[in-house]
Amino acid sequence: MKEVEKIFNQLNSMLMGETETVYSDKVVTLAYEPLNVGKIKNPDGKSEAQGECGDKMWISFKVENGNIADVRFLTDGCGATLACGSAVTELAKGKTPYQAMKIYPQNVVQYLDGLPASHLHCSVLAVNALKRALKYYKENSDDKKNKSP
Ligand code: FES
Repeated sequence: MKEVEKIFNQLNSMLMGETETVYSDKVVTLAYEPLNVGKIKNPDGKSEAQGECGDKMWISFKVENGNIADVRFLTDGCGATLACGSAVTELAKGKTPYQAMKIYPQNVVQYLDGLPASHLHCSVLAVNALKRALKYYKENSDDKKNKSP
């Protein structure tokens, strides 16, 4: 029994070691404790996007005084996607929607101190979800302008 425990502990520390070498500390932290998770009621911008792996991300945000005051995300994706959703929402917060359009996957990767090549598409999913929410905001704020007397 002791031997089984020893092998289990060795495997566990090998896996933990691998996690730490493949992912940056920031990715690991945000995968376990993601930021800005949730869904905003009556959002100004909202979206659903699907990544090349089939995972999805939903983003919603509220604009106040011309700036993105609150922004939240949900995902059914992997730990790296949780980190990317945290990063993209942190990067968008406080920016104008126009400034947020200039957030690219490389900004997300830089914020996270890198991502393994096999998970770069998670940053693309997060940025696509943000861009779709911004597009929704633009279309709907233009609609409101056009309909006003
Ligand atoms: Fe699918 Fe990360 S988005 S593995």
